[in-house]
Amino acid sequence: MTTLTTGTPTPTPSVGIAHTRVEGRDKVTGAARYAGEIPFADLAHGWLVLSTVARGRIRSIETATVLAMPGVLGVLDHRNALRLETDYAGLMGSKPDPTCAVFQHDRVPHLGWPVALVVAETSEQAREAAEALVVHYEQEPHDVDFTGERPDAYPLDSHVPAVTEKGDLDAELAASAVVVDAEYTTPEEHHSPMEPHAATARWDGGRLDVVDSNQGATWVVGELASLFSLDPGSVRVRSEHVGGGFGSKGVRAHQVAAVMAATVLRRPVRVVLTRRQMFSLAGYRSPTAQRVRLGADADGRLRALEHRSLSLTSTVHEFIEPSAGVARVMYDADAHHTANRVVRLDVPTPTWMRAPGEAPGSFALEAALDELAEKCGIDPIELRLRNEPDKGPVSGLPFSGRHLPACLREGARRFGWADRDPRPGVRKDGRRLLGTGMAAASFHAGAMPSTATVTAHANGTFTVRIAAADIGTGARTALTLVAADALGVLPERVRVRIGDSDFGPAMIAGGSMGTRSWSWAVTAAAGELRDRLALSGDIPPEGITVRSDTTEAIGALAPAERHSFGAQFAEVAVDVDTGEVRVRRMLGIFAAGRIVNPLTARGQFVGGMIWGISMALHEEAVRDRAFGGHVGADLAGYHVATHADVPHIEAEWIDDPDPGDPVGIKGIGEVGIVGAAAAVANAVWHATGVRHRSLPIRPDRVIQAGAPRA
Ligand code: MOS
Repeated sequence: MTTLTTGTPTPTPSVGIAHTRVEGRDKVTGAARYAGEIPFADLAHGWLVLSTVARGRIRSIETATVLAMPGVLGVLDHRNALRLETDYAGLMGSKPDPTCAVFQHDRVPHLGWPVALVVAETSEQAREAAEALVVHYEQEPHDVDFTGERPDAYPLDSHVPAVTEKGDLDAELAASAVVVDAEYTTPEEHHSPMEPHAATARWDGGRLDVVDSNQGATWVVGELASLFSLDPGSVRVRSEHVGGGFGSKGVRAHQVAAVMAATVLRRPVRVVLTRRQMFSLAGYRSPTAQRVRLGADADGRLRALEHRSLSLTSTVHEFIEPSAGVARVMYDADAHHTANRVVRLDVPTPTWMRAPGEAPGSFALEAALDELAEKCGIDPIELRLRNEPDKGPVSGLPFSGRHLPACLREGARRFGWADRDPRPGVRKDGRRLLGTGMAAASFHAGAMPSTATVTAHANGTFTVRIAAADIGTGARTALTLVAADALGVLPERVRVRIGDSDFGPAMIAGGSMGTRSWSWAVTAAAGELRDRLALSGDIPPEGITVRSDTTEAIGALAPAERHSFGAQFAEVAVDVDTGEVRVRRMLGIFAAGRIVNPLTARGQFVGGMIWGISMALHEEAVRDRAFGGHVGADLAGYHVATHADVPHIEAEWIDDPDPGDPVGIKGIGEVGIVGAAAAVANAVWHATGVRHRSLPIRPDRVIQAGAPRA
């Protein structure tokens, strides 16, 4: 028995103090292992074969030749695959995307649909055989044509309702002194995490053991258990290090194919996606066509606000990018209408991607606000301040902290907004036109039930176990700081273990809710452990473990509008001869709850803002109408902002602890991208006098837009 005293003397709080990643050394030295590189004895490698037609049926698959190739162990396709259960409610009650339920029928609903898995002794043998596999199709005409004028579009509810309507829109528009009516489009965008999706599956003593790269082990267990009709307790999913996800790393075809092959072959099987395969198998952000109508009095006060968005989904699964939802939080109007509609095409199913809805939605809405400010002759920051709602515009609920005005004012001060000449096209640097722009941001702040355990060890250290996922956010480090404060010890005495479904159910790394949800559970367990240790400091050799479950506490949260907020500022230089837009500087000020680790939090905000630049200027997946697939499905054809595209970016925050959270956290994963593209686009208008309502603002579009007005 060892006697241990916690919390005396109470060390300096760790939350709020910059801390380098606890696994940083492992990552930079290569000691950290990712799902695709963890060694297993007797490992076999699976390679997915994807359809080369965009619609039709598989007529035949010539497996014989491939089975005779070196190292090939088998080919799985719809004729010999295990039957899967697909009629169940998955995450957030939605049925699973049938894309994951591989090889269940001969239909091909889009190009890049998984039609077979070739398994071989080595990855190279599997790839060669997969590329040699001849599949014959009965091809049918396909439709991949996304436009704003689809007559077959329909409203679709998701986690938010499709349509909200308040007041008489036409009457308020007619009574408005100033009206903006504009259409905006955003292209298909891809998550492009650095680490491709990868999973290794094996049966271990009657349990299915999956080493995976995902955003939530609990989630993957649930889906795999349902698909394969297994007891969730007989499935273990681990994902210790994850190289990015952004919404794309849930359950996808490769994990299911790996489990199927491991079951049939009775040996461990690994399936890794290539970058090219990720373009059809990892999900993506739907393109959007949005229409915003704003009507205001001469002083800029909104009388009418309409935001309608169209996105696409596949023919096999309904997913909607709810871009028209952002106005439900941001601005009120006497007449307030929003609608999210979707059209089904012969394309892969889109999915959540960082700030789903808010990212493209804020581009349209915040650009429209900028157009309104111009028409009213009001400063765009002042316009937003005049339209600050005192309660949820649609819900009528109170805000649990809405510090958008403080973000706008602090941002204006730091960015030097007061010196800005509101006229467009008047500032120059050589042949480049200069402009500045801003936009406002918000993202939902929530928490979901999680469980955690905290163990006090006899040597004075503590171990936290929670099925959290650190997808590059710094969650592991944040939880270490949170646990240290809850225990009243220094972080050096706390070890946080994550990424293992055996630690019990926990929220995914998603919805900007991961760190908050996990911190709540860790704080609850640590608090109780601290009380136990205060009663008796005697710790047996096996330690003392306390387990928490926050289901009840989170269920008891009073209804409110809970959001993070932000103000985005950008300065651009536009070369009107080459059409090149360069972002020169960017500033974001956020009110996003208590900031746990300033170092990684800044990385989250800046990362989101960089993606906003990328969204504004570069990213665009181009789908060829004739063959139905992508042109340039790789990181050469799909340009993501690189170091050379990104200027100095500052991200700061104002004090905004959430009163409804034990640590004061709101969530910071997504708000950084919201409004960022609009700030850049608004700056391009200020530079050139030309509105660009379609992203990305490519050089050819800048040139085509014609001579600037200056
Ligand atoms: Mo995200 S789109 O909540 O991973």
